Amino acid sequence: MRQLPRTLLANLPTPILPLERLSRRFGVEIFVKRDDLTGLLESGNKVRKLEFLVGEALSQGADTLITCGTLQSNCCRAVAAVAARLGLRAILALKGDKPASYDGNLLLSKLLGADVVYCAPEEFARIEGVLAGLSDAVRGRGGRPYVIPESGATELGAIGYLECAHEIAGQWRQGAPAFDTLVITAFSGGSQAGLLMGRQLAGLSAEVVGVPIAHPAAQVRNYVGATIARAAERFGLAVEPPKAVHLLDGYQGKGRGASRKEELDTLIQLAREEGIVLDPVYTGKAFLGFLDHLARDPKEFGPRVCFLHTGGIFSLFPFRDSLSRLLDGDPLVES
Ligand SMILES: Cc1ncc(COP(=O)(O)O)c(C=O)c1O
Repeated sequence: MRQLPRTLLANLPTPILPLERLSRRFGVEIFVKRDDLTGLLESGNKVRKLEFLVGEALSQGADTLITCGTLQSNCCRAVAAVAARLGLRAILALKGDKPASYDGNLLLSKLLGADVVYCAPEEFARIEGVLAGLSDAVRGRGGRPYVIPESGATELGAIGYLECAHEIAGQWRQGAPAFDTLVITAFSGGSQAGLLMGRQLAGLSAEVVGVPIAHPAAQVRNYVGATIARAAERFGLAVEPPKAVHLLDGYQGKGRGASRKEELDTLIQLAREEGIVLDPVYTGKAFLGFLDHLARDPKEFGPRVCFLHTGGIFSLFPFRDSLSRLLDGDPLVES
């Protein structure tokens, strides 16, 4: 991977820390890899992907990054942050109407100077056409666009997590706890695909388990397999598509737009028990799935298991009403 253009953006390596009280509760050693601390405005797993995506954009002479996502997209906000940091322009195509006031990730994207285009659901359903139109408009003004698909979900983005597996192998060599299983949130599955490739290349013995938080498991499984196959071909990597892609299914809840009481309860509990704050739509759902499996069989993931925290803190704030009710012990009106 050394020859791929890469723009260094992240604070690496991220720490692997024990979750002591949770470990005691389940009788197995539980760790967290703090990829919520990759930096660049707490951009979580996105920064690792963007190091390679933006590296390619700059190598092509791009001056404008174009991407898409939900109103509270972490990825769009991360692209806005990178663009502002590097003196590029960012254009974000977001699904939904312009809100009366900005909040969470959208507030930050606007603060960082990104141009936002609001798309109705029908328009977002044909987002590739929308992104192509935005690219044409940039070219028409003499600019040079580079399109980053939703969630940075390409085989190039996945290389960020291939490198993360090498990072973990390096941390193990330096004495960090060698866990049996690494559990990660999966939206597209791109981060998991990268870890599965890196696992083979870095000789990492840990099993990699994804928790789909929006799409059906079969869709994530297909995407992971296809991404690995594309990356192997495009970059000439000596990796085999994995025989099985291990996923904990059934924790998608209401998908990315909403959170259920049990997900918010999980988030509150972890914040109080370990001082680790999850987000309500990605890591909160995945952690609920992780704990649910541990509760049923504490040995399921082996004696040592690590949860990779992919970030997302800013999407907490639009959930302030539901969280306030729960924190005050009132019945939750789900949002
Ligand atoms: C906080 C957070 N965690 C996990 C993910 C999922 O990443 P991936 O699309 O690589 O599965 C995302 C992005 O969609 C995210 O914002």
